[in-house]
Amino acid sequence: MDTHLIVLAAGQGTRMNSDLPKVLHLIGGAPLFAHALASGDALNPVNRVLVVGHGGEQVRRAAATIDPEITVVDQTRQLGTGHAVGCARAALNGATGTVFVLFGDTPFIRAETLQRMAEARAHNSIVVLGFQAADPGRYGRLVTDGHRLERIVEFNDASPEERTITLCNGGIMAIDATVLFDLVDAVGNANASGEYYLTDIVSIARSRGLQATAVTCPEAETMGINTRAELARGEAIFQAAKRDEALENGVTLIAPNTVFFSFDTYVGRDALVEPNVVFGPGVTVETEAVIRAFSHLEGCHVGARAVVGPYARLRPGTELSNEVKIGNFVEIKNSLIGDGAKVNHLSYVGDAEVGENTNLGAGTVTCNYDGVFKHRTVIGRGAFIGSSTMLVAPVTIGAGAMTASGSVITSDVPDGALALGRAKQVNKPGLALRMFEKLKALKASEQKVSG
Ligand code: UD1
Ligand code: CA
Repeated sequence: MDTHLIVLAAGQGTRMNSDLPKVLHLIGGAPLFAHALASGDALNPVNRVLVVGHGGEQVRRAAATIDPEITVVDQTRQLGTGHAVGCARAALNGATGTVFVLFGDTPFIRAETLQRMAEARAHNSIVVLGFQAADPGRYGRLVTDGHRLERIVEFNDASPEERTITLCNGGIMAIDATVLFDLVDAVGNANASGEYYLTDIVSIARSRGLQATAVTCPEAETMGINTRAELARGEAIFQAAKRDEALENGVTLIAPNTVFFSFDTYVGRDALVEPNVVFGPGVTVETEAVIRAFSHLEGCHVGARAVVGPYARLRPGTELSNEVKIGNFVEIKNSLIGDGAKVNHLSYVGDAEVGENTNLGAGTVTCNYDGVFKHRTVIGRGAFIGSSTMLVAPVTIGAGAMTASGSVITSDVPDGALALGRAKQVNKPGLALRMFEKLKALKASEQKVSG
């Protein structure tokens, strides 16, 4: 049976108090709607439709980078969740199977929960995700009769008796694709909010003799993000889950609460992560690597048994091979560092290729940017770059070559050569002593005048 996803993301999110559309706010470095899409992906959907409205162009662009295949449809006026689903009609024309409706601001739905809904769909035209609310507040209430779901009543329209129901609507639904749009067509807006409620399709389906039921999940899973405070709480929930996952996968975290992951961080078995480390998007760390305290990594790969930090910054395009050592106050960008190479202190390496077992001394800088273009630096294997060498790119240093400390290297160095690119030193005997005497005498005479 085919599965299709509709992710509703047209709402303004007024309570975020933001110029950014709500669903573009990040948790674990990924926009909220991407989390909803990711849980839906576990169902292998044949179609994915994102309904956008407020900030539609911005959301459209973000969606295209995450999934070029996704269909984005506009809901120009936000007339309600039922109306929003109706906007996906053309995109799902002739679809059969099950349509899952997810909310773009509800990031924690587990794939396993959707799977249970898919199973319940076998005997029901509609499956709604419900939860027992600690405080049912303004959630829609599920009116049930045994295992049957009879209807959903929105808080604003609920009677005092219905408001005592604690089984609430989590918002997610799985619906028979062949009846969904007929049901949505029958939804009116004669209710307290004047909106076309998706939730009304349940009572409409029942009146047509179709079956509906609810599958429940823990309340935390249905958490929607509406405010900055909820965004921060959501981030904390996300981080806690990623830390647990890392520990379970055999990663040592000395102080788990101080390590921050992204949605796609991968850390291999027996790796060690010291306190206060931040993993931005796109990081993979191989087995037995050590990420020392206060390091910041994004868009990079750290090879097996490599050691990074403390206080290292690895920027996008950094590829550290096995057993590389990156030390304190070192920044690496868009560079390949070969097996066993060392960049241990106070260096900037950008747009470079560093050969196996090469050593970059303290304060090595690749001068990769001329103000307009970026240029590459290539350093062969087994080379030795003296401390405080400026490598003015484009430049190539041969295998086994050496540069003298303090050199400014502007032309290529052949294999095995020593490059000296600094001013020649001159010593003037006794000049320092004479200079000091002269300066001290000057100071004394000035003090006499002012005193
Ligand atoms: C909805 C449910 C309610 C449930 C609650 C769970 C309806 C009518 N009510 O209420 O039963 O308890 O979720 O959180 O469905 N959206 C659009 N276009 C619109 C309106 C909404 O795309 O015209 C999107 C929003 O961006 C959001 C989602 O749909 O992602 C839910 O809309 P929202 O207005 O937050 O619904 P609730 O009032 O919370
Ligand atoms: Ca909501």
